[in-house]
Amino acid sequence: MKGFFISFEGVEGSGKSTQVGLLASKMQEEGLNIVVTREPGGTRIGELIRNITHGRENVDLTATTEAYLMSSARAQLVREIIRPALKDNKIVIVDRFVDSSLAYQGYGRGLSEETIWQLNKLAIDEVLPNLTIFLDVTPALGFSRRNGTEKIDRLDLQQKDFYDRVYKGYKKLTVNFKDRYFVLDGSKSIAEVEKEIWDVVKSKIKMQNAKLQFKI
Ligand code: TMP
Repeated sequence: MKGFFISFEGVEGSGKSTQVGLLASKMQEEGLNIVVTREPGGTRIGELIRNITHGRENVDLTATTEAYLMSSARAQLVREIIRPALKDNKIVIVDRFVDSSLAYQGYGRGLSEETIWQLNKLAIDEVLPNLTIFLDVTPALGFSRRNGTEKIDRLDLQQKDFYDRVYKGYKKLTVNFKDRYFVLDGSKSIAEVEKEIWDVVKSKIKMQNAKLQFKI
């Protein structure tokens, strides 16, 4: 596989989406060929699935159904967007990927990491990020950052202990997959986090440069 695949992970309010936007702008300025997307969503089918997973009325969604829906949206995104872009030697930035299912459905809902991997095997079809950026922000800090203007979805309505399990799950993933994880203190200023992300992305891409011919 060619190209370079970056995923962002973190709990609600960790600043992921802001940093995805900043990194994408920086890369565009540098003339890099990028594709930016998100999960669940990023494709027409994926956004339809997102309407189900995020709809506040869908409180009867079971944990297993939720896990299948997340992996279905992922299967579509991998085939429609991510793999074609990587084959085309592009840099793909995705706001959440399989680690979100491991953290939220696996650790948060208690389905186990192993079950989530089994469920996602076909969906990801061996497409895994080269680099996963984890913005380390506790759920307490994440929620305290909200200013009341955000749209509240079904996933924002969970109990505190759910987010604590998700956060602890993420911490385990950062250790288990330390080769592809880069952990950042997300409580720092937006500008500081942005700089640290750019530094690591630049060096990782440079390392692959010989293979990939990125002009950075
Ligand atoms: P966000 O787009 O605001 O980050 O919201 C996505 C929500 O969906 C967030 O609560 C995490 C959740 N989610 C899962 O539970 N499992 C998954 O596999 C993915 C991609 C997201």
